[in-house]
Amino acid sequence: MSDLPNPLRHGLRIGRTPEPCTVVIFGASGDLTSRKLVPALYNLARERRLPGGFSVVGFARRPWDDAQFRQVLLDGVNANSRSGAVETELWASFAEGIHYQPGSFDDPSAYARLAERLAELDQRRGTGGNRVFYLATPPEAYPDIIRQLGAHGLNQSPHGGWTRIIIEKPFGRDLASAQALNQQVLAVFEEPQVYRIDHYLGKETVQNIMVFRFANGIFEPLWDRRSVDHVQITVAENLGVEDRGGYYDHSGALRDMIQNHLMQLLALVAMEPPVSYDADAVRDEKVKVLRAIRRIRPEEVATYTVRGQYDAGSLSGRPLPGYRDERGVDPASQTETYIGLKLFVENWRWAGVPFYLRSGKALPRRVSEIAIQFKTVPTMLFAETPMHDIEPNVLAIKLQPDEGITLKFGSKVPGQPQIRPVTMDFRYGTSFGVASPEAYERLLLDCMLGDSTLFTRRDEVEASWSLITPIHQGWLASPAQPFPNYEAGSWGPTSADEFMARDGRTWRRL
Ligand code: BG6
Repeated sequence: MSDLPNPLRHGLRIGRTPEPCTVVIFGASGDLTSRKLVPALYNLARERRLPGGFSVVGFARRPWDDAQFRQVLLDGVNANSRSGAVETELWASFAEGIHYQPGSFDDPSAYARLAERLAELDQRRGTGGNRVFYLATPPEAYPDIIRQLGAHGLNQSPHGGWTRIIIEKPFGRDLASAQALNQQVLAVFEEPQVYRIDHYLGKETVQNIMVFRFANGIFEPLWDRRSVDHVQITVAENLGVEDRGGYYDHSGALRDMIQNHLMQLLALVAMEPPVSYDADAVRDEKVKVLRAIRRIRPEEVATYTVRGQYDAGSLSGRPLPGYRDERGVDPASQTETYIGLKLFVENWRWAGVPFYLRSGKALPRRVSEIAIQFKTVPTMLFAETPMHDIEPNVLAIKLQPDEGITLKFGSKVPGQPQIRPVTMDFRYGTSFGVASPEAYERLLLDCMLGDSTLFTRRDEVEASWSLITPIHQGWLASPAQPFPNYEAGSWGPTSADEFMARDGRTWRRL
C-alpha cells in the first residue's frame, strides 16, 4: 500500500480504530437495525475494528428490556450477517455493550432518560461523551427526534467528546421538503456533525470508481466527449416491492433510486478530479457536476424520461403479483417501478454526451453497472468487415453482483478474416479472494472516525432534488400512464426500448 499516492493512502484510512463511543439507534425495533446496522457493527467487532467500551443504545417504542433487545439483535445477526452464524464468545462480549431505551420519539421524558443512560455509559464503559445518533425511523419522525435532541442538549457532548448524527434516506421527497429538513437539522447540529447516508457510497465497487479513475493514468485521457459516445448506468432489481408497498407507493423509482443512488454514481463517473481526497474537496466536485446537469423542464418529460410499472409475471420461476396487487399499494396506482432517463452534463468535459440512467423492480436479474461506450473508429481499414459489424469499445464497471471491470474490444478471429468482440476482465473475487465488507460497515466506521467523504453534504442533496423535482412536476401534469406496462420478469416496458431507439441506441443486454 505504501506506493499509493499520498491522498489515496490517507483516504483509504487503513487500520484506524475509532475512539470509544456509543451509537444510539432511533427506530431500533425496525428492519434496518436487525438486517443491516447491527450485523455491520457485529462484523466490525469480529474484525477488531471497534474501540474498547463500544456501546449501542436502541431507542424505540416497544416496551423491551436490554435482554429482549439483545435477543432480537442476535436473531437478526444470525439471519443476516455476511459471516454466517455468530461466534458465541464474541457475541457475549459484544452484547454486553447493547442497551435498550423504550420511548416515543416525541416524549421529552424519554430523552431525559436517554441522556441519563448515556452519561452512565460514559462512566461505566468509558465512552467519553462520544456519540453517534442514527435516525433509522420513518422520515416523519426525524423532526421530532432532532428537536428533542436539541432541547435536551444532546446535540453537544460533555467532557469534550464529539456528537454526530446519521440520517437515513429518504432525505425529503422533493426540493422544498429536503431544504426544510436541512434547516431543521442545521438549527440543532452543525453541518460537520451531519452524515446523510447513501449506502451505495459504502459499496467497495462504488468506492473503486474514484480509485480506478484517479489512481490510474490510462483511462482519464479518454474520459470525455472526444472519446465517449454515451454512458449507461443501470441498477436492476429482481424483486418486487415486497413488504414495502406502503412506503414505495408514495415514492417510486425516481425518488427511491435515481435521486440518491444513481445520481451519486453519475457524479462519481462524471466529476473532475478533486484537489485532495478530503471530504469537502470530493463533495465540492460532486456538487459541481450535479449543478452542471441540464435540468429537465416539466414540459420536456416525454422526451427525456420513460416510466413503467410491473404487471403480474414470474421472477426466477416464481409467480409475482402485479404491482397494483401488492400490499399497501393503491389499486389504481400511477407510481413508477421502472424509470429510464436521459441527462446531459453541460460542461467542457461532457457537453453532448448523453448519460442514460435506468432502474427498475421485477426485472429478470439483479445487476448494477456503469457502462462507458466509446466512439467507433472513423473509417474501416479491414474491408472484409463492414463498419456496422464492428461493436464499439465498452468499459463496464460491474457494481454487483459479479463485481469487476470489463473492457470490450475487437479482435481478429484466428485463421479467419473476421473481427469479433472479446473482453479483458478484472474480477474482485479472482484478484483479491476475500469477501468485500458490507456498505454499512464502512459507513458506520467512517462516521465514528469523523470522515464524511462518503456521505452527502447539504448542497449535494439539494442539487440532486433540484433535478428530480421538475420531473415529478412534469409527470403530475401529464396524462395518466397506461400502467401496468411491463411484465414482471421482463426488461421493462417496450416504450423504454423505443426511448433508446429514437437516439439510434439500445439498452445494454445484461
Ligand atoms: C434502497 C431502496 O435504497 O436500495 C430499495 O429503497 C432498493 O428499494 C435498495 O431495493 C437497493 O439496494 P442494494 O444495495 O440491494 O442494491
